[in-house]
Amino acid sequence: FPLERAQDADKGQNAVQNYTLSPNENFRLDVRSHSDGSKYAELVLRKPLDREDDAQLFLILSAVDGGTPKRTGTAQVIVKVLDNNDNFPQFGDSVYKVKLKETAPQGTLVTKVEATDKDLGSYGDITYSFSQVSENVLKAFSVNKHTGELTVSGTIDYEEERNYEINIKATDGGGLSDYCKVIVEVEDGNDNAPEVTLTSLTSPLPEDSPLDTVVALFRVTDQDSGDNGRTACTTEAMLPFLLKASVNKYYQLVTQQPLDRERVSEYNITITVTDQGSPRLTATRIINVQISDVNDNAPVFEKSTYEIQLWENNIPGLLVGLVQAKDPDMEHNAKVTYSLLPGKVSDQPVSSYISINSETGNLYAIRSLDYEQVKDFQVTVRAVDHGSPPLSSEVSQWDRIFLRTVEMLMLDPFPGLTTMRCA
Ligand SMILES: *[C@@H]1O[C@H](CO)[C@@H](O)[C@H](O)[C@H]1NC(C)=O
Repeated sequence: FPLERAQDADKGQNAVQNYTLSPNENFRLDVRSHSDGSKYAELVLRKPLDREDDAQLFLILSAVDGGTPKRTGTAQVIVKVLDNNDNFPQFGDSVYKVKLKETAPQGTLVTKVEATDKDLGSYGDITYSFSQVSENVLKAFSVNKHTGELTVSGTIDYEEERNYEINIKATDGGGLSDYCKVIVEVEDGNDNAPEVTLTSLTSPLPEDSPLDTVVALFRVTDQDSGDNGRTACTTEAMLPFLLKASVNKYYQLVTQQPLDRERVSEYNITITVTDQGSPRLTATRIINVQISDVNDNAPVFEKSTYEIQLWENNIPGLLVGLVQAKDPDMEHNAKVTYSLLPGKVSDQPVSSYISINSETGNLYAIRSLDYEQVKDFQVTVRAVDHGSPPLSSEVSQWDRIFLRTVEMLMLDPFPGLTTMRCA
């Protein structure tokens, strides 16, 4: 850099003869002459400058004449060092390790990475960005390009991803970069409720199932870890069923008391599973078990004896009464058929006096009865259900026929009254 020359009003030897420069590391002086003999100096760089070390150099240029005494003039030379992008951004830490709860909502600050750059202006301006990160990272995190703040921008799920490795690049305005790595370790939260998976279910379940019959087999799972995934399984007390823990978080629901469809025909069994996390999460599953019918009940007559009375000289085929048996079982097991058991009335088969409708239990007098011949008789009706095997019960049916002549004569002109008693 050519420097201004110094002026000296004197001439010849008394004019400027030489220049000197204050001691410094970077510059030296070359003294040169113009064609008119006047001298000037050039500032010559001999060692590179570094703006980041010294942004300004203060030098003293002295001009000396050749007179006696020597006279000196000085000037200050200020060298302002301009910036060049000779510095890379630099992260303070090359690896950041962070723990993050999986329940962290969007916007949660994970960490802040920071790089510095000694250069000035845009050469020192740093922007942050992800560098070659996986799709999973892009879905879950974002980095603020100005501040270096790494925040949660998606869903963190311990069950899906337990670790993230995030490379972040800091780039200055001149295009120079540095890299750092953020290792995020996701911590489990109790964000999964337990689940009950039914593997098998026997429904309808026959009411005569023996004790310890397996009604249902199911498995309890919880995706969380540790206490968050530790589960306990219960069902209501007072059930004829019992929960039995098996291996691998399988449970069996078995019968522990006899069943009776006629008493309880259906159970809704609530399985409750709770984990040990905080807060505790619970799942319930209702298992519907229908109890199916077995022919374990015989038909039962409403009364053990029926009494029927009828007037003598009845017309044949007269409906004289009705017997009925109930069966608490279902469908075929409850369908009842009636029949008369063989018997004799005055040496005649009972079936020549009386007939029963097998479906309805209606009783008909087949012949006209005569009090003077038959005062009473007795017949037995049998009720059978259609179960397999069929169950039956019998009732002693026709008990007695008797006459009340006296009352009859007073009451009306009928020749007599025949009363049948059915027991
Ligand atoms: C069992 O649950 C079913 C379905 O909710 C319901 O229709 C039925 O009445 C319940 N039965 C009992 C015995 O509670």
